[in-house]
Amino acid sequence: MKNTVSRGLAVLGMLWMFASAFQASASELESVYTVQAPQGHWVVRALTSAANCPRITWDQQKPMVMQLRAAQANLPVRSDAAQADSKTSVFDVTSCEATWPAQAQSAQIEGRAVPAPPKQIQRILIVADTGCRMKASENSFQECNDADKWPFAQIAQSAAKLKPDLVVHIGDVHYRESPCPQGNLGCANASWGYGWDAWRDDFFKPAAPLLASAPWLFVRGNHEACFRAGQGWFRFLDALPLTSERNCNDPVNDLKGDFSEPFTAAISERAQFIVFDSSKSSGKAYNVNDPAFSKYQAQLQAAAKLAANKPESFFINHHPLLAAAPSKDPNKFKTGGSAGLQSVFQTVEPNRLFPQGVTLAMHGHVHLFEAISFQTNHPVSLVMGNSGSLNEGHAPNVIAPTDRLYKDAVVDNYASRSDYGFATLDRIVEAGQESWQLTEYTPQGQPVIHCRILNGKSRCH
Ligand SMILES: [Fe+2]
Repeated sequence: MKNTVSRGLAVLGMLWMFASAFQASASELESVYTVQAPQGHWVVRALTSAANCPRITWDQQKPMVMQLRAAQANLPVRSDAAQADSKTSVFDVTSCEATWPAQAQSAQIEGRAVPAPPKQIQRILIVADTGCRMKASENSFQECNDADKWPFAQIAQSAAKLKPDLVVHIGDVHYRESPCPQGNLGCANASWGYGWDAWRDDFFKPAAPLLASAPWLFVRGNHEACFRAGQGWFRFLDALPLTSERNCNDPVNDLKGDFSEPFTAAISERAQFIVFDSSKSSGKAYNVNDPAFSKYQAQLQAAAKLAANKPESFFINHHPLLAAAPSKDPNKFKTGGSAGLQSVFQTVEPNRLFPQGVTLAMHGHVHLFEAISFQTNHPVSLVMGNSGSLNEGHAPNVIAPTDRLYKDAVVDNYASRSDYGFATLDRIVEAGQESWQLTEYTPQGQPVIHCRILNGKSRCH
């Protein structure tokens, strides 16, 4: 009897070891995080150096093996790679995922806690343009090894302390496209290219405390277009299922891969985000025969329909349409809105650009902070591309009533900051009325600009 029991235990032990050998262990986990997906869904992601996916435990239930999103792969350089000095993209991590069940309260992946979807959103934390620039085509190399010169890790640490309910990244996550030139100590030995090591060092490692603090909503930037870091975008950050047409592996599919459909994400009873993928948009006005023009036009029309579903929409896409550009001289005013997107958006809303119901437009791309309110019927425009990537000059000190960001758009309140930082939006309900407190912080978490946003107007001090 004793022998039978020990034999049985030995068999069970072997079975357990056999099963474990085919699942990722905690030590192999590179990152776990939660991503906001369309239609109120939330997706948990796990990146592991193991070939197989780890197990996820919802509440106290039985662990389940996560689904495979993307297996490890070495992807050849695309024929249209953005940088001349390119190399095979080595994705030596497995991307795994699981949809958050509506009734689940908590989740753990191999014992590691996963941020749960918020029951209510009070504080949204915003970053954009976070990576460390290494770009040979512009001979631009940021000092990635110096935490003051590339402050994203500091920003993520300070931001996590503010305990947001949701973190929003408004695009340009990946910046390490070219090898650091020999002899340049500022970026010596930095990983580069579009594979996992560059993604890890540019985003997942420095962002770790913030990824652990709350779920994220990712908005795609031009750096994540298919011919740049698009393959990583789809493996790691895109909210929809990965398909062979939407993975950026073959340029033939780019008209699908580069133009994700807009979707909404609820913020409150009253407000929603409309997430718009402008990653491949041109800085120059479109010819109406350009396939990208028709794509964006149809998507904006779809976004206008989505806007009708809630009293207020916050339109969120990487490239600003109503913004001032940075310059060497802060006394100089220069427009910074995307002429490409303006040429499409004006076909739907000739003056306002954004669909009716959009009270706030949120962007990155331009590496500074701007909060712009208009006397005219334009939504408040926020530019928040100052979260780590190389600054490109000064925001103008003022925008005069005679300066025009677009056609007849008259600015009546303008706040800006040219240094690195990040922002929060706090929901305020007073006498049944919902408004938002926008705060801009230094990388150390010191608040420096406060704005109140209400009914499509903002006031900053
Ligand atoms: Fe950008």
